[in-house]
Order: sequence, then C-alpha cells, then structure tokens
Amino acid sequence: MSSPAPLEILYDPACGDDLPLPGDLRELYGRLQFPSSGSRPYVIANFVTTLDGVVSLGIPGTTDGDAISGGDKHDSMVMGLLRSVADAVIIGAGTLSHSPGHLWTPEYVFPALEGSYRDLRSRLGKQRWPVCAVVTARGELDPDLAVINEGNAALLIITTPEGEKRLSRKKMPSHVQVVTAGGGDRLSVREILDAVRQAIPGAETFLVEGGPRLIGQFVDGGELDELFLTLSPRLAGRDGHSERLGLISGVRFLPERVVAGRLNGIRKSGSHLFLRYSFAP
Ligand SMILES: NC(=O)c1ccc[n+]([C@@H]2O[C@H](COP(=O)([O-])OP(=O)(O)OC[C@H]3O[C@@H](n4cnc5c(N)ncnc54)[C@H](OP(=O)(O)O)[C@@H]3O)[C@@H](O)[C@H]2O)c1
Repeated sequence: MSSPAPLEILYDPACGDDLPLPGDLRELYGRLQFPSSGSRPYVIANFVTTLDGVVSLGIPGTTDGDAISGGDKHDSMVMGLLRSVADAVIIGAGTLSHSPGHLWTPEYVFPALEGSYRDLRSRLGKQRWPVCAVVTARGELDPDLAVINEGNAALLIITTPEGEKRLSRKKMPSHVQVVTAGGGDRLSVREILDAVRQAIPGAETFLVEGGPRLIGQFVDGGELDELFLTLSPRLAGRDGHSERLGLISGVRFLPERVVAGRLNGIRKSGSHLFLRYSFAP
C-alpha cells in the first residue's frame, strides 16, 4: 500500500506536548498530542462508522471495517498510528471472532509504514508491538485465530474464573497469557483496566478498538478519555433482517442521561472526516 497524501487539518487545538512522530507520519497526520492523564493510562478508542452510524454490517465473515470505510488508506494509516502509540490494544471477543485472521499491530493495517511505526514506538520507549488484550467472559476462543497462532505480539486474554477453566483445557503458545479478573460471570471495566495495567507496568496509553458492546461499557463507566472517529461518507442502511450495530451497544444513555463528547480535532481526506472527541470523566 503506497502512502496517501497528507490529511487536511481543519481544527487541531493544542492539548499537550507533541509526540515524536517520525517525518513521514508527521507529514501525513500533522502533530499528535495527548493531554496528561496523571498516573493512570490515557484511554482512547478508534472506530469507523458510516454516515448513518453503522459500525458493523452484521454479516458473518465480512471484514466490516473495510466495507464501512471503503478501504480508505487514511483510516488505515490513522489506525496504525494509534496502535503505534498504544501500550495495549483492547478488544472484545466479538470483534476478535469477526476478524479471525487479523493481527492488532500497526503494520498489519498499513504495511508500507512499518518502519515509521516501529521508529515511533522506539522513540516512545515502547515494546516492539502493543499487547493485544482480549476480553471474554466465556473463554470460548477459536484456537485457530491468527493472534494465537501467527502473532508475535503478546496476547493477554482477560477472563472470568469460568472462562479461565475453559481456556486452561487448550494448549496456548508462550506469547499468550490468560488472566482471571474478578470473581463473577462478567468483568467490570475497572477490572479489565487493572488487569491490563498489571500486565504492562508503566503503561501510558490504552487503545480500545471495540466492538460496540465493549466500548459501551467504557463510556458508561466514565473510562473513555477520547474517541477517534472516522466518519465514512458511505450509507449502510437497515432493513431489519440483520442487526447493524451502531457505535454503542448494550447500554442506553438518552434521554435519561446525557453523555456528550467535546470536539477536539477535525481532519479531512476527500469525503472522509477524522474526528476527535474527548469525554470528561
Ligand atoms: N467499525 C468499527 O470501527 C468496528 C470496530 C470494532 C468492531 N466492529 C464490529 O463490531 C462487531 C462486534 O461487536 P460486538 O459488540 O458484538 O463485540 P465486542 O464488543 O467486540 O465483543 C463482545 C464480547 O466481548 C466480551 N465482553 C464484552 N464485555 C465484557 C465484560 N464486561 N466481561 C467479560 N467479557 C466481555 C464477551 O465475550 P464472550 O462472549 O466471549 O464472553 C462479549 O460477547 C463486529 O462485526 C466487528 O467487526 C466494528
């Protein structure tokens, strides 16, 4: 994949110190800053939605992200950039099972920038790859998943005691670690974050890549600092035959509770918008 043209920067208020992006990433994206989050890791999320708010087409075996973004190069470049600055990429088991061949590394989504992503991680003093942290209550992961069989990056499976029992029956390679968090049949977001923090001492940034059921709990629990949202110009439509999830699922806010982001950045490429919204705790 060749490098795209630089993103057009429409609104980019200062919010912290510049991260040390190598020249080509700086040219493509512009500056990247995060506010200080004190002693706890800063939690960001990255999603792509259609104009009508759909993040998943609900068709098994399809790679939703590509259909929704139209295979947009800038979306992939930004996804790789955000993975490059993250100590861990956190996903739900649903997202994992929908993309069994996917690896949650920066270069998997944008191979041509592998050197720059690697350079950025080394400038930030981070491990070669972010830890991929998968959240599952049931622990029923397919042993043929690429993250288990092909991945070099550390895989952390965060689960319940019941899930741990299931997973212990499977032989896992050495880069896979299973962690039991909490004692119930579901994990709280705090338990998930504590488990990732304990596995990565000194972690500064966690990236949540979905899906809608997992991110809904982060927003509900006030644990999402910032959302990087790619707004694709495509329309998905809904006809009631299959469930087409929006950005948040499994939790309801309006009208009882107002949860609203503060616009923190707008970039543009063609008809795609790259938006940043921060959420106060
Ligand atoms: N457009 C985008 O940017 C984007 C991004 C991400 C995903 N997606 C799409 O979204 C769809 C999947 O979304 P989803 O909402 O169904 O899946 P999800 O949020 O990725 O995963 C849900 C699963 O995660 C586990 N889980 C979530 N919260 C948990 C908790 N508190 N404690 C324990 N386990 C927990 C459970 O796994 P177990 O059932 O194993 O217990 C649950 O069934 C896919 O189609 C994917 O492609 C789109």
